[in-house]
Amino acid sequence: MNVKLINQPLETIAADLTLEFINANELESHPHSALLAQAGFKAENEQLCALHEHRILVCGIDKEASNELYRSAMASALKAAMNYSYASLKLSQYSAEHFAALIEGAVLGSYKFDAYKSEPKPSSLTEVIFSTENHDKTVNDADVLESILTQTLIIAKATNFVRDIVNQTPYDMTPQGMAVTAETLADKNGLECTILDVNGLEDEKMFAMLSVGRASVNPPRLIHLAYKPAKAKKVITLVGKGLTYDSGGLSLKAAASMVTMKMDKAGACAVMGIIKAVSELKLDIEVHAFIGAVENMIGGNAYKPDDVLRAKNGKTIEVRNTDAEGRLVLADVLGYAQANVNADYIFDYATLTGACMVALGPYTTGVMGHNETLKQEWVDAAKQSGEYCGILPFNRHLKKLIKSDLADVCNVSSKPYGGAITAALFLDNFIDENMKEKWVHFDIAGSAYTESAWDVHTYGGTGAGVRMTLNWLMEQCK
Ligand code: BES
Ligand code: ZN
Ligand code: ZN
Repeated sequence: MNVKLINQPLETIAADLTLEFINANELESHPHSALLAQAGFKAENEQLCALHEHRILVCGIDKEASNELYRSAMASALKAAMNYSYASLKLSQYSAEHFAALIEGAVLGSYKFDAYKSEPKPSSLTEVIFSTENHDKTVNDADVLESILTQTLIIAKATNFVRDIVNQTPYDMTPQGMAVTAETLADKNGLECTILDVNGLEDEKMFAMLSVGRASVNPPRLIHLAYKPAKAKKVITLVGKGLTYDSGGLSLKAAASMVTMKMDKAGACAVMGIIKAVSELKLDIEVHAFIGAVENMIGGNAYKPDDVLRAKNGKTIEVRNTDAEGRLVLADVLGYAQANVNADYIFDYATLTGACMVALGPYTTGVMGHNETLKQEWVDAAKQSGEYCGILPFNRHLKKLIKSDLADVCNVSSKPYGGAITAALFLDNFIDENMKEKWVHFDIAGSAYTESAWDVHTYGGTGAGVRMTLNWLMEQCK
């Protein structure tokens, strides 16, 4: 969707359809109040009414609605408008404060992934035009709106870029496919890019990650992307779980649970999207994105429950379940990232546990770590950005559940509850002492993918992690 801003009153802008958000108090004074009443329109949130004879689409919204409501209402309105045969839609501002939310609603809500359709049906609607004028005819500073538009488009498009990669099949997006995607992004955006193949991983003694990928015909890759501006205020390391497919390995998943496991690379895709946006926004922050791209499969040479693996930092891991593979990959990638970059913060993004979904529901990212202030900063950044985050607390008793009698640590918990937290406590074994307070783990198992539309999301990858991280990073630049 092409989103534009025109510094003119709404009336003077040419478009096929006008979108109006109205609240219940404005119903009576609306020029088409009788028609709206006839249609049963009560201006309830996201209630839509198309007055085609007047080329108007009316969308209900609460009085004093939040950004969250505007974002979601805009997405609903666009989804409806895309089913008509208009090519362009225009609307006014609802104060500059809500402009970013409306842009996000438009770009994220109109997203469609039809790469696998033999006959894609593109919508005739291709253009959304915002006037600089407010709904109440007051005017905004056009420069302020212009800069909101530029910034928001970069972030929303990066989110759609993530969705596009997540949505690709495991056949099309293998670990090598992830490496090629990263190289292409690096070329386009002037990033540094280093790829390690199996030999490189062996040289680095990354045997946990190598073991997970061993039974696959698609060998693992470690990807390191770096954005290094001249005057960086901070150095941030991002780590992403990139399981291009998670069959569960020998601890094979049940048939129904295996479906959607192409999304197990969503953490890796998110860190690529984040570094893409950071480089386009030209933020004064050095960002490193590390990705462990691996396929977890079965075969005669598969790693097994009962194996003991040695991770890059020297710790040994007793494997009791090969489906708890993400933490094994992250153990090595976290080790490699810390050995190669001395960062102010390290954040990891992973579709790590089904337990996180049980704990927080399917829309919310789990936030875990040792630094209470930092975790709260993230919950606030997520809220600001339109994502949901919830803190899952560590405690010393949960830590005991991943003790191993055989090795230094076990890859699964001895108790069936609190699985998102025990997974994070496993990762804690691979965080260096000096980084403990600077690390946050994001479990995006629930938030990264959806099979039913919600908020600004359509079927498939959601791009979870991108908007909240850009919000947090931009706060650091203030
Ligand atoms: N990739 C899965 C987690 C997952 C499940 C993500 C559902 C998205 C939706 C992960 O590798 C996994 O299989 N975890 C196991 C851990 C268990 C064996 C301790 C799980 O959650 O069941
Ligand atoms: Zn798994
Ligand atoms: Zn997994």
